[in-house]
Amino acid sequence: MRYRRLGRTNLEVSEISFGAARGNTDNPQQAIETMHAALAAGINFFDTATGYDNGDSERVLGEALRGHPEALVETKYCPYDSYLPGAEYIGTPQALIASAEESLRRLGRDRIDVFLGHGIRSLATLERFLNDGCYEAMLKLREQGKVRFIGISELSEGDGTHQVLQRAVPTGAFDVVMLTVNILLQTAAETVLPLCQQHDVGTVVMMPLNQASKQSGLVSAEAALECVRRHIAVGNLPAEAPYMEETLFDFLQPYSIPEAGLRYVLAQTVDTCCVGMRTPARIASNLRAIDPPYLDAERLARIRALFGRIEVQVR
Ligand SMILES: NC(=O)c1ccc[n+]([C@@H]2O[C@H](COP(=O)([O-])OP(=O)(O)OC[C@H]3O[C@@H](n4cnc5c(N)ncnc54)[C@H](OP(=O)(O)O)[C@@H]3O)[C@@H](O)[C@H]2O)c1
Repeated sequence: MRYRRLGRTNLEVSEISFGAARGNTDNPQQAIETMHAALAAGINFFDTATGYDNGDSERVLGEALRGHPEALVETKYCPYDSYLPGAEYIGTPQALIASAEESLRRLGRDRIDVFLGHGIRSLATLERFLNDGCYEAMLKLREQGKVRFIGISELSEGDGTHQVLQRAVPTGAFDVVMLTVNILLQTAAETVLPLCQQHDVGTVVMMPLNQASKQSGLVSAEAALECVRRHIAVGNLPAEAPYMEETLFDFLQPYSIPEAGLRYVLAQTVDTCCVGMRTPARIASNLRAIDPPYLDAERLARIRALFGRIEVQVR
């Protein structure tokens, strides 16, 4: 396992990190085995949130990490009434503090390594979060030692060009941001990633495989082609060659689509690539994708030429 410095936090985080958004309640025993396999493989950064599986994601993660104080945990407070792009902002400092306390209890830890405002989706609600006491409450939690570092994640379904993070990063308010970077949404490379480098803000990549389902996303040639068809349907890509061809992704071989997807992310100036994985076998296969230089210049250029124009996430 290779490790990268998470911006100004100076934490050394594994290049591949563990996303615990899904699957913990379906089969908690398997989830714990998978998290143990992650630890054994050197993965030291685990992302969860109060809202994942109604708190069960944090509970199961806490159980899996018991006896592993060295493992780093990132969790989040969502100041909206849902995860939908049009959700109403309902953040309050009291709710934020209560959420962090509940996360600590569910995780069975005495501090959260990275605490994020979850899915900040518009410039207006970023301003509210910074000025209505929520951000100050984060600072207070940090002063009290309950939280080590603070940040926000974005909502790429509604903000594919990272307007929120482009505004937030230069304020210096945040140590870490969580953002979407993948073959089918490359916009961060020229917008927010250079800002993060400039301001020494840590970057945790979410949805590296475009939050794939079996039907659509960067998990197989068929699913990747289906995602391209969905982009064509909404006008993000033209209905012409090579986008209509079954051979569209063949240039990535010998890599599989998910392997190329992770290699693409790790070839960017990001600190950790947080992948959703539900079995130890997934961990093993994904860790094969981590040998520098990840992807050659020719494939990177082709990926950019084909999909660099996409400015909104489609799943
Ligand atoms: N706004 C936010 O803060 C936010 C939003 C979204 C996500 N996140 C975080 O980012 C993490 C990662 O995102 P994500 O889980 O939504 O999406 P993702 O990592 O892009 O995709 C996860 C899916 O890819 C599949 N997969 C992984 N490796 C594979 C492989 N080698 N071959 C085939 N399929 C493979 C997984 O299948 P299996 O489940 O079958 O293993 C899972 O269904 C989340 O878990 C969460 O922690 C944060």
